[in-house]
Amino acid sequence: MKITIFGTGYVGLVTGACLAEVGHNVLCADVDESKIERLKQGIIPIFEPGLETIVRDNFNQGRLNFTTNAREAVEFGDVQFIAVGTPPDEDGSADLQYVRAVARSIGEAMTSTKIVVNKSTVPVGTGDKVQAEISTALAERGLSIEFDVVSNPEFLKEGAAVNDFMKPDRIIIGTTNPASEKRMRELYAPFNRNHDRMIVMDLRSAELTKYAANAMLATKISFMNELANLAERLGADIEQVRIGIGSDPRIGYHFIYPGCGYGGSCFPKDVQALHRTARDVGYNAKLLAAVESVNDRQKVKLFDLIVRHYGGQDALAGKTFALWGLAFKPNTDDMRAAPSREVMAALWGAGAKVQAFDPEAMEETQRIYGQRDDLLLCGTRDSALKGADALIVCTEWKAFRAPDFALMASALKEKLIFDGRNVYDPNRLAEDNWLYYGIGRGLSISVR
Ligand code: UDX
Repeated sequence: MKITIFGTGYVGLVTGACLAEVGHNVLCADVDESKIERLKQGIIPIFEPGLETIVRDNFNQGRLNFTTNAREAVEFGDVQFIAVGTPPDEDGSADLQYVRAVARSIGEAMTSTKIVVNKSTVPVGTGDKVQAEISTALAERGLSIEFDVVSNPEFLKEGAAVNDFMKPDRIIIGTTNPASEKRMRELYAPFNRNHDRMIVMDLRSAELTKYAANAMLATKISFMNELANLAERLGADIEQVRIGIGSDPRIGYHFIYPGCGYGGSCFPKDVQALHRTARDVGYNAKLLAAVESVNDRQKVKLFDLIVRHYGGQDALAGKTFALWGLAFKPNTDDMRAAPSREVMAALWGAGAKVQAFDPEAMEETQRIYGQRDDLLLCGTRDSALKGADALIVCTEWKAFRAPDFALMASALKEKLIFDGRNVYDPNRLAEDNWLYYGIGRGLSISVR
């Protein structure tokens, strides 16, 4: 099948590469010329396990190609995926200008029947807007060519995106047109073996499914963070509570890890956009507002613990903190809405310095912050500790799980850890006279 993908960002590139990997012919289009040039040389703009190899292999075998020419892109695919960004507006709603621009160029250039598939995360009703945009452009050309707009939201996790695409839990298709459904079934057949993972529904329901999934997951996290803050005050350990409730299959163990807040390009943006959409249709979605505000508060949780420990913000001036984990979660270099950024900003605001390390996000940190006197980028986990007053953990990378505590004790000024991901065992640390603050671990605090 010939497929065009508009947008070579995270979603577009993974989609294009994975569709080529199973034998489809794919052309990826982007307006960014230098990005397209680099992709042709096999240089991937993001860190995503397994992606570089399949991009290179499929490009070398001629099944995956790249272009900046919109006309060529429209001409190429019978199926046209829209996978461009939908960044939040100032008011939190998704900005659809890029989606609309692609729809327009499809309408301006198409000469044969197309299926237009929306993969970008877009508010409910966007499918209709894409439809209208293409129809208008066609009408301006005095043409009437058949096309259908289908919603096919993505459920890729950063760091596991290739695997998620190749072995999906579900493939959501929003269309009521039987011919489009048939075509989409053919397209996804290689990923839909053994049992049927395809769930077909109307377009608006498919659009809402994406937001519902992310909002539900964000709700689970904010709920646990709320309970963690309560546990801390009650002298209970949220980690014990987590295991206790997770054992109920109706609740389950997934996505109930408390921490220093959720980040990334999806949860914060999608919860906000869904809240905004609700307002637009006259509904006050109170739970969504709470999920967001609990998360905002949780992102400053580590800083609050630090301030509490030192007895006030003023005491932080001139202190140095080692910070492990800059990416918003492990296995990515993505720092969008990362809790580490809030922690660093608050520390800098109080006149403290940061010595930071992340296994993948050092370049990204450098790109975001450049040179600053109060930020030292460290080449290794252990060098970040040298001479620091305490260690802060913001991301639970595997490499942080079993550090050399004796070495840490000699590198730090004090045996003091602020753990935003509950990576360590408070009882074990207390035995070695560490002062340990986790999230919602009333126990660790009462140990003092
Ligand atoms: C998410 C969805 O999982 C994915 O299906 C969707 O397509 C895009 O959004 P992603 O943003 O890559 O994927 O990250 P995810 O692994 O879901 O984690 C999001 C954030 O939640 C991270 O900051 C993570 O640290 C945090 N988190 C996750 C918790 O704090 N606790 C948990 O129990 C799980």
